Amino acid sequence: MFGNMRVCSRWRIFLFCLPMIFFVPHMLSVLKLQEDLAAQDLHREKPKKFNHLVLGPAAGVGLSDRLQCEGPRALNKTEFSTFSKNSKYGDQISFVTVFTIYNSSVDEQSNRKLIDLVTVGNKSYNKVERSLATLDVFINFIQATMPQSNVIILTEPSSELPVHRNRVTIHSIQGEYSRDKLMLQRITSYIAFLEARLEEHSLGRGQVNHYIFTDSDMAIVGDLGQFFHEYPNFHLALTFRNNKEQPLNSGFIAVRGTVEGMTRAKAFLVEVLKVYTSKYMKASRMLGDQLALAWVVKSQHSFDARMFTKKQPFLHEIGATSVLFLPCAIYNWTPPEGAGQFHGMPLDVKVVHFKGSRKRLMLEAWNFLSSSSDSDVSNMLCLILKSGRTKYDF
Ligand SMILES: *[C@@H]1O[C@H](CO)[C@@H](O)[C@H](O)[C@H]1NC(C)=O
Ligand SMILES: *[C@@H]1O[C@H](CO)[C@@H](O)[C@H](O)[C@H]1NC(C)=O
Ligand SMILES: *[C@@H]1O[C@H](CO)[C@@H](O)[C@H](O)[C@H]1NC(C)=O
Repeated sequence: MFGNMRVCSRWRIFLFCLPMIFFVPHMLSVLKLQEDLAAQDLHREKPKKFNHLVLGPAAGVGLSDRLQCEGPRALNKTEFSTFSKNSKYGDQISFVTVFTIYNSSVDEQSNRKLIDLVTVGNKSYNKVERSLATLDVFINFIQATMPQSNVIILTEPSSELPVHRNRVTIHSIQGEYSRDKLMLQRITSYIAFLEARLEEHSLGRGQVNHYIFTDSDMAIVGDLGQFFHEYPNFHLALTFRNNKEQPLNSGFIAVRGTVEGMTRAKAFLVEVLKVYTSKYMKASRMLGDQLALAWVVKSQHSFDARMFTKKQPFLHEIGATSVLFLPCAIYNWTPPEGAGQFHGMPLDVKVVHFKGSRKRLMLEAWNFLSSSSDSDVSNMLCLILKSGRTKYDF
């Protein structure tokens, strides 16, 4: 009897251990795999994305012409510390952005990404709501900084954007708005928009209104009337940086709203479109337009690419178009990400571009500004400077 029981309990141990014998090596291999993946991640420096603001050291410490921060408080007041109600420069300026909602069947089949909620402040957003929230904050910044400006959203005819705000109009333009073609469509839409304005002028119904074509992930934090005033002869303005491969960013293109300005700007964009379709259709979907812009500029024989290493704006004739080149550091400043941008934030920064996965920071910055009692733009800029290097969840 006793002997039998002992056998029995040994059997029990055996039966109990049997699954472990198979399971433990499996577990070890899973751990190993995770280790390998982590090592690969480290190797590729794949950035971790954060779902909350991460404040780090501010770039540009000790440089006298850069914003100095103490905690989230700015030691310098920038030119636009508090918003003024009227532009010093009388010109009417409108902002134009191409925007479309992606609601593809792919997203609907694997509904996960669409439903994934991200929370900023008190609000949760799904994927579509996130891109609408970005657009909304884009408009908020313009209405705070340049309250006399209008915002024009160019979109596809079938989209019904739920954007109903004062001084915001939606223009639909036929086209191909798929993700792969969006950058191409964007230039096409800019051209169509300028054609429509020129048509109005030819019918005697136009009035001078300058246009600034921008990405919707940009915060306008300063008055942009100044350069139209200071450089009265340019037709089109682009933003440049000291970067060999991509010296021009396509996220900000300004056009003088005279018939001459719009005609010459349109001719320039038509040339860019031609180069894009003939040379860069195979480029990654985000880069084709920037490569085409740079090609058109550099193909002008009189143009010296060393100009891109300068810090000041400069003018150059490209074909028959007078182009004003504005430094990205002021007109298209991206939170520190790469070479040449580790030197902090210039005190006169006017446009902050929340490229890539920095969109959470754009919303957080607006929430910070609108909830602070003094609406101090400088303090908000410190918040951006101190956490701009981080990759966020949208
Ligand atoms: C910005 O503030 C710092 C610290 O107070 C100061 O040293 C620097 O001179 C200021 N820069 C300007 C341009 O006011
Ligand atoms: C997505 O597309 C479907 C079908 O076209 C439509 O019914 C739905 O309202 C769209 N959703 C959004 C958020 O636009
Ligand atoms: C969040 O909620 C609090 C209290 O409900 C409110 O006072 C605050 O304004 C809200 N913040 C935002 C950004 O909506």
